[in-house]
Amino acid sequence: MTGSPPGAGSHRGTDGTGDRVGERSVGELSVGDVVEVEVGPVAHGGFCIARYEGRVVFLRHALPGERVRARVTEAKPGQRFVRADAVEVVEASEHRVTAPCPYAGPGLCGGCDFQHVEVGHQRELKAAVVREQFSRLAHLEVAVAVEPVPGDHDGLGWRTRVEFAVDEAGRAGLRQHRSHDVVPVDTCLIADERVLATGVLHGHWDGEQAVDVVAPSTGEAVVVPVPSGEQDVPTVVEHVAAQRFAGDFQVSARGFWQVHPGAAATFVDTVLEVLAPREGETALDLYSGVGLFAAALAEAVGPGGKVVAVESDADAVASAAANLAAYPSVLALRARVDDAFGVARPKRSGPGSRGQRSRKLRRHPLLPLRADLVVLDPPRTGAGKDVVAQVAALEPRAIAYVACDPAALARDAAWLLEAGYRLEGLHAFDAFPMTHHVECVAVFGR
Ligand SMILES: C[S@@+](CC[C@H](N)C(=O)[O-])C[C@H]1O[C@@H](n2cnc3c(N)ncnc32)[C@H](O)[C@@H]1O
Repeated sequence: MTGSPPGAGSHRGTDGTGDRVGERSVGELSVGDVVEVEVGPVAHGGFCIARYEGRVVFLRHALPGERVRARVTEAKPGQRFVRADAVEVVEASEHRVTAPCPYAGPGLCGGCDFQHVEVGHQRELKAAVVREQFSRLAHLEVAVAVEPVPGDHDGLGWRTRVEFAVDEAGRAGLRQHRSHDVVPVDTCLIADERVLATGVLHGHWDGEQAVDVVAPSTGEAVVVPVPSGEQDVPTVVEHVAAQRFAGDFQVSARGFWQVHPGAAATFVDTVLEVLAPREGETALDLYSGVGLFAAALAEAVGPGGKVVAVESDADAVASAAANLAAYPSVLALRARVDDAFGVARPKRSGPGSRGQRSRKLRRHPLLPLRADLVVLDPPRTGAGKDVVAQVAALEPRAIAYVACDPAALARDAAWLLEAGYRLEGLHAFDAFPMTHHVECVAVFGR
């Protein structure tokens, strides 16, 4: 980690907006302070690490190796770090570019983290984050390169599903970083042009909390104000044309589907490649959504095989039932994965958490006791120790873990290693260019 050399070039001032630096003891920082720092490595979450007189600074809008003036945006008593934005670049990285989006930058839209970074270098930063998470949380030194999703050239115009926030005046916009404040925008450069062509950003949305826009791979884009009555949420059809599989999937416009138009096909191909399913095998698709991987697996294992899909969202399971109707070998279960395995749900604090204690833990009778293959594609929080132990107990010959959070993946990987599995491959994809997000597909074998 690179810190600022003591005394040298590390000074306070104002940022020209009147944010005054008071007399304080060394290392104490307050919101609005502007300090000059040398920028250290990238970290998970879209920021870099810097140090100011021993204090850790989580710094946005900067790049490793740069020297910048940083304005403190968050400083909490007792917290060992502060958050800051780079507001002036003193020495720029060779990888810095002018952000293509006029709404990217300190205090503006919080949707993108890396608009100021050359797009190939964004992938190198993400690879560094994946490596660091595996090293720190799984004690594994992994080699990983983040690949562009096929069809992506400049990292713009890819987002086919966008939830726009609505401000008090009824204008659609996007939220500031770590804030509920809405920045009204008249364009979003990462959005698919069909999203923008709906006119959503020029409409008046008085009384709505948000507006979802979905541009599916087939048919017209749809605009769904939020909240909507149940009956008002349309269903769209997504066509997947992978090299190893093709199919159509109906999805609720508010349900989960990959937002990059090339992502679903890329992940299906990768999962089929790393698992190499054989006819007659039994496979589990956990956190199965509308059945993307279940359908691909069903085709591969054939009518003599068996696929069990587990998903908790009622709409997704209803869509999955339709999407998987052509495959009699598939059983789609509506259940939380932890409930289906009969293990405790992760502990929550706060209202509603007490009832959990009295829940009976009972394994779903239709969940097989053995499986040849498992696909895990959990939400950002990951699968967790108990689910991972249950997956390992099925003794699958291969597990494909599809992960949108490398920290959760690395943590769950550590549990899989402990259960006797080893990491046999790690793929990473830039499915969310301009943001810090990265999608990984890890394969584990016994
Ligand atoms: C990242 S999505 C993956 C969906 C699907 N595999 C796909 O690629 O389209 C995660 C899915 O897990 C579901 N989910 C979240 N928590 C769950 C849980 N505890 N048990 C089962 N499903 C869950 C969500 O509803 C969502 O459909």
